[in-house]
Amino acid sequence: RVSAKIASLSAEQLKLVEKGARIIRRGGLVAFPTETVYGLGADALNTDAVAAIYEAKGRPSDNPLILHVSSIAMAEGVVEINARARILMEKFWPGPLSLVLTAKDVVPSRTRGGLSTAAVRMPDAAIALALIEKSGLPIAAPSANVSGRPSPTDAETVRSDIGAKIPLVIDGGDTRFGVESTVIDMTAGSAVLLRPGGLSKEAIEGALGEEVLLPQDQNIIRRSPGTRYRHYAPSLPLVLCCAQDVPKGARRWAWMGISEPQGEPCAQMIFKDKAEYAKELFRALRALEKSGAEIIYAETPDETGIGRALKDRLLRASGK
Ligand code: TXA
Ligand code: MG
Repeated sequence: RVSAKIASLSAEQLKLVEKGARIIRRGGLVAFPTETVYGLGADALNTDAVAAIYEAKGRPSDNPLILHVSSIAMAEGVVEINARARILMEKFWPGPLSLVLTAKDVVPSRTRGGLSTAAVRMPDAAIALALIEKSGLPIAAPSANVSGRPSPTDAETVRSDIGAKIPLVIDGGDTRFGVESTVIDMTAGSAVLLRPGGLSKEAIEGALGEEVLLPQDQNIIRRSPGTRYRHYAPSLPLVLCCAQDVPKGARRWAWMGISEPQGEPCAQMIFKDKAEYAKELFRALRALEKSGAEIIYAETPDETGIGRALKDRLLRASGK
């Protein structure tokens, strides 16, 4: 399946991927598309290469990176895979699911943010899979934005954010999901949802035949270190509400949501459903910043399916 996806690349894309793989093997940085958002990749096993990722993003060094692999066998080289994690890998990979597992010693402490665990995922995008295959290495890749900014879902945004700091941005067009992968901690007795994302909690529960816990369901709060930091911050205030609840006297406001708002927004983004709202969210935030609006009202989605990840990102963009 992976080789069929790689075979779908054009000759031009393949040349860029080969160039990217040479850069990765030499310890350099390459931005590339995944099915979720664009990633900023480096050799996950090379401490200096990984240090350069933190540097380029301005990312706090205790926030660990996801290792991107092109097969379960490659994941086996970097983490201990337990039986329940294997069920999820077999069912949902390649796809937007990152699994936190006990790290093997080959994974540098820097990649793990000093933790004893590491997150692994197999992305469902031909360019990403080809880049991993051709470099023959697990690729550590956070989202390719400056730390704290919305994640990039197209190559142009990557170039404007961090393009000057890296030798290559591989353009694969708009990403399919628009929100990052779901991160699940699989190291304990129960699976714990550290970050909602492209794969729904319900789908994971169906595959495991057990409830996936939320961090707040637990006595010990185990959280994804990344969730401590303010994320996805647009430079405008963002308020979550319903279409009919935009304050009557609001001036120069922008609207984003599935429903038509009541009142007169100075800019608006209307999406056909939750999936499109999620796919366009980060691009919409960046566009509305430039619209001349002074505040963004964003429609609160329901929390089923992709809605959970969408609401999570909206809440963080609102500063909650
Ligand atoms: O969709 C995605 O996951 C994208 C694309 C590029 O693959 N990547 C991404 O990476 O969103 P990043 O670095 O922006 O977010 C990784 C998240 C962070 O919240 C981080 O704290 C968490 O995963 N994480 C990574 N390793 C972890 C670990 N060992 N334990 C707990 N959380 C971990
Ligand atoms: Mg990120």
